[in-house]
Amino acid sequence: MIEVQNLTKTFSIGKEKLTAVNNVSFQIEPGEILGLVGESGCGKSTLGKLLVRLERPTEGKIFFEGKEISNSSDRHLCRKIQMIFQDPFASLNPRMTVDALIREPLVVHRLPVGHIVEELLDLVGLPKNAASRFPHEFSGGQKQRIGIARALALKPQFLICDEPISALDVSIQAQIASLLQRLQKELNLTYLFIAHDLAMVRYLSTRIAVMYLGAFVEIAPSDMLFEKPLHPYTELLLASIHLPNPELERKRTRVFISGDPPSPLHPPPGCPFSTRCPKAMPICRIERPKLVQIGEGHEVACHLYDEL
Ligand SMILES: Nc1ncnc2c1ncn2[C@@H]1O[C@H](COP(=O)(O)OP(=O)(O)OP(=O)(O)O)[C@@H](O)[C@H]1O
Ligand code: SF4
Ligand SMILES: [Mg+2]
Repeated sequence: MIEVQNLTKTFSIGKEKLTAVNNVSFQIEPGEILGLVGESGCGKSTLGKLLVRLERPTEGKIFFEGKEISNSSDRHLCRKIQMIFQDPFASLNPRMTVDALIREPLVVHRLPVGHIVEELLDLVGLPKNAASRFPHEFSGGQKQRIGIARALALKPQFLICDEPISALDVSIQAQIASLLQRLQKELNLTYLFIAHDLAMVRYLSTRIAVMYLGAFVEIAPSDMLFEKPLHPYTELLLASIHLPNPELERKRTRVFISGDPPSPLHPPPGCPFSTRCPKAMPICRIERPKLVQIGEGHEVACHLYDEL
C-alpha cells in the first residue's frame, strides 16, 4: 500500500540544517498496522506529515498503491490518506459544531454530505445529538472520537495515527485503542500508529519500527521485537516498560536510557546511538551502521550484527 524510498526531510534553522527524517525506507502492506516508536523529537510526526503530504520531502520517494505521490497534490489521492492527531481540537475553531467539523473535509473536497455525519457518529460510538454540540462540551476521549470521525469522512484507506491516545486518561486509552482496532478491521484500513513507548503499540501493531534521531534502527513483527530485540536501543526501551504483573514488576531491575538524545542539528559521527549505547565499540563512533535484514522480516542497524 505504501512504499517509502530513502525519505529525507531537512529543515533550515538559520544557517544550519536540521535533519528530522534521515534516509528512511520501508513498506506497509494493505491491512497492516505498523507501529512507530521513539523518543520525543526523533522525527515520528515529521514522517507522518510527509506521508500525508503536510510536509514535502527534501529527498526520496513515497508511493501509494504503486503510484508516486511524493509531490502530488492529486485531490483524489489526498483523500485516501488521512491523519489523526494527539489533540485534534487544538487548532480548530471552537465555535464550529461537531456536525460542521465532520462535514468540513467533504465540503472542502466538494463531495455530497448526505447522512454521513450520523453514520460516522454512530461508527465511532457517539450519540446522534452530538452533531449540534460544540467541542468543549466533550471529554478528551469523546473529542478524539470526533477527530477520528472527521478523519474517516473522506473514506481513507490509509490512516496515520499520531499519538492518538497519549494525551488521554489511562482509563480511556484502552477504549480509543480498541475503537481504532475495530475500525481498522471493519473498514479494512491500513495504519501507521505512532506512539512514544512500546507498550502502547504492542497489542495493536502487526509490525513495529523503532526510530532514533530521524532513522529506523530496527523493524520487526511485533512478537519478534518483544521476544528477540536486536538493537541496544530497543532493548533499553523494552526494559523501561511497566510490566502488567505487579509481582514481576517488583522483582525486576529497571534499566533506563541515560541522558537525552543528541540534537538532530548536531548528530554524532558514526552510529546515531553511540553517545548513549552501553555496547558501543570503537567502530560505532566512525561508521554509521546500515539497516540490514537479520531474520525473516527483521531488520536492524547496528555493528554488533556486522559479522552475521
Ligand atoms: N517545521 C519545523 N521546522 C523546524 N524544525 C522542525 C519542524 N518540525 C519538526 N522539527 C524538528 O524536527 C525534529 C523531529 O520533530 P518531530 O515533531 O517529527 O518529532 P516527534 O518524534 O514527532 O516528537 P514528539 O514525540 O515530541 O511528537 C525535532 O528536532 C523538531 O524540533
Ligand atoms: S552500532 Fe554500536 S553504538 Fe550503535 S547501537 Fe550498535 S553497538 Fe551501539
Ligand atoms: Mg510528534
